[in-house]
Amino acid sequence: MTLIGNIRVKLSDLIFSFSRALDFVNPAMTNHHMRVAIIASEIAKEFGVSRQEIVDIFLASTLHDIGAFSLKDRLTTLEFEVKNPQLHAERGYVLLKDKGLNIFSDIARIIRYHHTPWEGGRGSYFLSNAGDEKIPAGSHIIHLADRIEVLIDKQRDALSQSKRIVEVIKARSNKAFMPELVSAFESLSAKEYFWFDAASPEIDQIVSDRSLLPEVDLDIDSLLKISGLFSHIIDYRSPFTAVHSAGVSAVATLLAQMIGFSDIECKLMSVAGYLHDIGKLAVPAEILEKPAKLSVEEFNVMKSHVYHSYRILKTVAGFDIINLWASFHHERIDGNGYPFHLSGGELSIGSRVMAVADVLTALTEDRPYRKGISGEDALKIIEDMAKNNNLDQSIVGIAGIYFRHLNDIRINAQSKAAAEYMAVKQFMG
Ligand SMILES: [Fe+2]
Ligand SMILES: [Fe+2]
Ligand SMILES: [Fe+2]
Repeated sequence: MTLIGNIRVKLSDLIFSFSRALDFVNPAMTNHHMRVAIIASEIAKEFGVSRQEIVDIFLASTLHDIGAFSLKDRLTTLEFEVKNPQLHAERGYVLLKDKGLNIFSDIARIIRYHHTPWEGGRGSYFLSNAGDEKIPAGSHIIHLADRIEVLIDKQRDALSQSKRIVEVIKARSNKAFMPELVSAFESLSAKEYFWFDAASPEIDQIVSDRSLLPEVDLDIDSLLKISGLFSHIIDYRSPFTAVHSAGVSAVATLLAQMIGFSDIECKLMSVAGYLHDIGKLAVPAEILEKPAKLSVEEFNVMKSHVYHSYRILKTVAGFDIINLWASFHHERIDGNGYPFHLSGGELSIGSRVMAVADVLTALTEDRPYRKGISGEDALKIIEDMAKNNNLDQSIVGIAGIYFRHLNDIRINAQSKAAAEYMAVKQFMG
């Protein structure tokens, strides 16, 4: 087996790819997070906050709506006067805080209040459990930037809309928005580039060029932690998938160990397991949890998730192997999988491992249209699939030999994830 050395992955690449993926769910959302990041960081600069604060505001902007799980949630945030925005903000906070990752704990509070109105400086919070915590300036900046982004009609030239947008924002100064920020926005709005940037089809490029995120390479353990965190955001969008990636990652990693993958390869397998369904961010939660058979169109959207996983992970430099292992989990040895219809020799051992781990885990989980089955019954099914040349025979054989251990590891990983899910679930509304 060829040994794969340590890989180099940039923190900013990983975050941008995830941020972009959040906006795949509907064309109305395209680039929302990226645009808010640019608008917010420009306002922050104009307002004159410290560099570190700008970095936090920029990062928080790229992820600010992670708590809006359903398409309905996302679409309501596009209305200028958002009804009940507190739940998605609170979920975002709970998802990011106390996860042992400093960069995310810092921005969790900013995200928590990104819809809280200024109210003459009183900026009360809607949920009682927040107590009288002080609202960070970054929250007010993102609140303003987010509302500006929503006011821009993307079908028309943005600069020509500047007057109208400034008027709408000014009318809410000291009520919805902090007056000093409204003034900063007003002076910024006189500079044409601000509007050209905000509406640019090349916003990805602009965000990368202006990136304020520290230029750091992630070591494999930080990469594992961050992908573990992202896996929750992918999974928690529906109770049916709430612990899926945690289970797949654990099963795939143990299989890789049994096959003789090196330590580093096993860690890469864990990352791939966490991210294999990242493309599900592009599937409306309403489809993930539809309690009846999906229509042909809905099933097509569902199928697209692996294609999106592939496209999203492709944008992360250093992720070639992870992508290969993650995104081919619905391909089958006989070539009858999707979306690439790869077969036999075209599928690496790592991709085959992931397919086995995915099916084995998914069968044990409830879906809206069927109940989950026991690990033992799931094993029988994958053994049949291996006989029919859908899954790799020798990998399924190994799953059979180590089945008890494999099943325990899966159950353990999934109960841990379930406990964390409960913390987020209380804000499901
Ligand atoms: Fe929001
Ligand atoms: Fe937003
Ligand atoms: Fe999948």
